[in-house]
Amino acid sequence: MPIVTSKKMFADAYAGGYAIGAFNVNNMEIIQGITEAAKELKAPLILQVSSGARKYANHTYLMKIIVAACIETDLPICVHLDHGDTFELCKSCIDGGFSSVMIDGSHHSYEDNVKLTRQVVEYAHDHGVVVEGELGRLEGVEDDVKVAVGEGSYTDPDQVQDFVTRTGVDSLAIAIGTSHGAFKFKPGTTPQLRFDILEEVEKRLPGFPVVLHGASSVIPAFVKMINENGGNMPDAIGIPEEMLREAARMAVCKINIDSDLRLAMTATIRKYFHDNPSHFDPRQYLAPARAAIKGMVAHKITTVLGCDGKA
Ligand code: G3H
Ligand code: 13P
Ligand code: ZN
Repeated sequence: MPIVTSKKMFADAYAGGYAIGAFNVNNMEIIQGITEAAKELKAPLILQVSSGARKYANHTYLMKIIVAACIETDLPICVHLDHGDTFELCKSCIDGGFSSVMIDGSHHSYEDNVKLTRQVVEYAHDHGVVVEGELGRLEGVEDDVKVAVGEGSYTDPDQVQDFVTRTGVDSLAIAIGTSHGAFKFKPGTTPQLRFDILEEVEKRLPGFPVVLHGASSVIPAFVKMINENGGNMPDAIGIPEEMLREAARMAVCKINIDSDLRLAMTATIRKYFHDNPSHFDPRQYLAPARAAIKGMVAHKITTVLGCDGKA
């Protein structure tokens, strides 16, 4: 199946009360692990590439591996730029075959965010590509950008209608208390999300797809596995999976997951080397790492997203 946009995926997800997983990719094993799980579970899929991942792996290499995954799986796969920060980066991804881009103007003033997002939407729509915008600022670490605790800001529901109308975006990322990376809540605190904001957004934008970033759950077994095999990770708390499932039943149609894949892969490789200290063939440790990615994605599809059987 050719690369598709997320238009139909989101319409179906909204109507069906489930969400599509948007998984970050930067190499072959990650792409294979994710797409093998989606194929077995017949799940629609978004593979997303950050600017850092694109620099690391090279646009052409990633696109060719993703095209190979489309051929191997026959699944509807959307290829998305995660956190595009300039018009030029979005244009380059659109020209290079991505079917979806995010323009993240959330660190600009409201008016500058509208202006930049509108510029990307005009170019993208002329080329059959869909656009995700963002209102509100998540805390945490993404690439070189660190938003310190206390410097994030929740989405203001009073702005969403104006933003969507003036920019023409196809989906909107909102900030309701999720954050990027593995350390989302202070140890000892109870994770909370602002479902009241999500409800308000849903009321103001009926039928419109909402996106949740920073939605890894930081599964304790993998942190433990890292620390039992030579790692030294401090306590890490993610978003409880039942909260994400609840959001997926509401207007949230796209849930972004990166850190959980990183943790599963790293924990598996650490354990492999602990158990097999003399091995040095990369295939020996990358095969179980790929299987761990596959297992994590299968778990997300069935437990968090509810999109199995929807492709
Ligand atoms: O939201 C950001 C993603 O986790 C991507 O992270 O920019 O380090 O590739 P990255
Ligand atoms: P996590 O760090 O919670 O996996 O979030 C990933 C993300 O939002 C990518 O855009
Ligand atoms: Zn993000």
